[in-house]
Order: sequence, then structure tokens, then C-alpha cells
Amino acid sequence: MTATRGLEGVVAAQSSICSIVDGVLSYGGINIDELAENATFEEVVYLLWHGALPKRDQLEALKKQLGENAAVPKEVIDSIRTYPKGVHPMAALRTAVSSLALYDQEAQDMSPEANYRKSIRLVAQTPTLVAAFARIRKGLEPVAPNPSYSIAKNFLYMLTGEEPSETAVKAFDVALILHADHEFNASTFSARVTVATLTDIYSGIVSAIGTLKGPLHGGANEAVAAMLAEIGTIDNVESYIRKKLDNKEKIMGFGHRVYKDGDPRAKWLKQMSKELTAQVGRSDLYEMSVKIEEMVTGEKGLKPNVDFYSASVYTSLGLESDLFTPIFAISRMSGWTAHIMEQYENNRLIRPRADYTGPVNRHYVPIDQR
Ligand code: ACO
Repeated sequence: MTATRGLEGVVAAQSSICSIVDGVLSYGGINIDELAENATFEEVVYLLWHGALPKRDQLEALKKQLGENAAVPKEVIDSIRTYPKGVHPMAALRTAVSSLALYDQEAQDMSPEANYRKSIRLVAQTPTLVAAFARIRKGLEPVAPNPSYSIAKNFLYMLTGEEPSETAVKAFDVALILHADHEFNASTFSARVTVATLTDIYSGIVSAIGTLKGPLHGGANEAVAAMLAEIGTIDNVESYIRKKLDNKEKIMGFGHRVYKDGDPRAKWLKQMSKELTAQVGRSDLYEMSVKIEEMVTGEKGLKPNVDFYSASVYTSLGLESDLFTPIFAISRMSGWTAHIMEQYENNRLIRPRADYTGPVNRHYVPIDQR
């Protein structure tokens, strides 16, 4: 038995939700570019869950269900009030989502219908949890969701209590579409491994959130923001990146396990970054990012991934950098739940083998003889 490090290139299961073929990312067979150009996040959620775009009445029904389920139990909000204010919002989200299960009467109901209803609640309630923690940690009261708002609009509204601009809502909606699914990425795979034991959907989602949090996966967008802040001005880019490259340190937001010729989502975020940073007088962020890209791509051949330009996009929208990864989770909740439901439909325990490299044929030695 020989191990494949990081399971690179291993095809772990069949899936009809999302594909990456020759560098082209599609949800349900529809190129991500078409979706980013034309769709809403709610249409994408439906597509991931049902394998087809919704008709008008189906979309209206889903939007209604998402709106009606956006409020979270009071007990969960009250428990968020007890979290230490300084914890990372991803840690808070991981705990808050886990506590949702405690108040969900259907938490243990494994029927497909109950799992679909739980998926609606998870997608609807995650923005509410993220926004509630973001306010509570500043000593502010959470803002109740508006059931008539889209996911994108509601999240921005719940963060500030003010009506977000149409530009902000549109940009945020496109960002949600771009992050919604990505076949067997680490967090989705972790969710599938978890539920393949036939445990409940909340357990799978908690695994996924914990996995997304790492800087090699979803945590990279926050790390990019930290890097831009550390660099400070465009004049410092060259020496900063030079030092990192010479020290063989990783530059966050670059490289990808699957895309070796560029992440198709990055060009959208780059364009949005250009426009939004200009609108808020922070073109310096875009210009620094472009210079970093020129150096890293020029010298290492590594291209930006989805996390690189999303950092300047979210900063332009006035979002705090430690909320970037929870925002990724708000979007990816749609993909995670789609994959969990697909796993349940055709389940087999996921249990690979290890290539053992430790010592062999040893014997137990009594403790006073060691
Ligand atoms: N900066 C500098 N060098 C890099 C980078 C980077 N961002 N990414 C890869 N490399 C180099 C590695 O050092 C390695 O070089 P070596 O062969 O000389 O040792 C080579 O490229 C291969 O890299 P691996 O880490 O083996 O590639 P892998 O497929 O395992 O990793 C990953 C992919 C984790 C995304 C990696 O590119 C990385 O760490 N990037 C930075 C973190 C990041 O942006 N993560 C977000 C990914 S997208 C997402 O999850 C949403």
C-alpha cells in the first residue's frame, strides 16, 4: 500500500453537484462565469440542492422559506452573549452552529425531507449567527433578520442595522455565488466523511466549519488581508514579497491543489476589487494586490486563488477581516448541505487505509523496565 500525499488526484466518490474539468468550474453543468454574470445566490442554492435552476415559483418558494427561517432560537443568541468577546468568529460560528442542533426538534430525524428542511435552516441562519456575534462582541444588540431580504442583503443589514447599498448587495451576492461550492474541497470532504457514518447533518457541518477555518483553506482570505495591512503601501510590496519568496514562505491567496493554470473565480474577484476599491478610495489595496500578483506569478508561476482578491473586495465593503472566513462559510453552507444530502442518498462509510511507517514486532515492556 502506498499513500498519496494529501490524496492529490484521488477520485474519492461520484458527485453530480459541481465539477472542475480542464480548469472550468461548473455547478450542475453550468459554468461559474454564467452564474456570476446572471444568477442570484438563491438560484445557485436551488441549483446545488436540486441539480437544476428553479422556475419562478420554485425560486419564490425557496426565498420565502429562507426568509422565514433566518431567525435563530433565542437560546442560541443568548448563548452567543456568553462567548468570550475575543474569540475568533469562526470558533464562535462552529460553536453556535453546533448549538443550533440542540434546539432543532428534527436534529436526529434522518429522513430526506427533514434533512432538506435542516439545510434550509442552516443556509438561512448562518448569516444571522455571524452577524449576531459580530455585533455582540462590540457590545451591540443583534439586529433581527428581515424575512423579505435576500441572503446577501440580510447579512449586510444585520451587521449594521442599516440598509446596504445596491452596489454592496450585488457585489456580495456575486461573492456568495463564487464561493458556494467546489467539489471535494477539504471542508466538503470532511463533511462527507463525517455524515458517511450516518451521524446527523449538524455534526457534518461542524466538521466542515472547523476544516474551513485553516489558513490553507478558507482562512487564507483573512491572512491576505493581514498581509496587505502589514505591507501597508505599494512601495513596500517588492521587499516584503522578495523576503517571503527568498525564505520559501507561502504567500497566502496563491496556488491551488486543482487549478495549476489559474482559479476561474479569481478574475471575477479581481474585477470587483478594482471597481470597489476605487469607489471607496482604497485603490491602493487593488494596486498592491496587482503588484503582489505580478511578482508571485512572475517568479513562481503561482496564480491567485479565490481568496486573494476577495480580501480587498470585502475590505472595500467595510467588513472586518476576521469575518472573511465566516462569510465564506455563509456561502459554502449551500455546497456543504448539498454534498451531505448527496452522501446520505448513496452512502458508504468512508474509511481509507494508512501506509504504516512506524516500528514493528515490538513487545510490551513493564513500566519499571523502560
Ligand atoms: N506561496 C509560495 N509557494 C507556494 C504557494 C504559495 N501560496 N503555494 C504553493 N507553493 C509552492 C510550495 O512551497 C511547493 O514548493 P516546493 O515544491 O518547492 O516545495 C509547491 O508550490 C507545491 O505546493 P504544495 O503546498 O505542495 O501544493 P498543494 O497542492 O499541497 O497546496 C495550497 C495547495 C494549500 C492551496 C497551497 O498552494 C497554499 O498553501 N497556498 C496558500 C494558502 C491559500 O491561499 N489557500 C487557499 C486555497 S483556495 C481555498 O481553499 C478556498
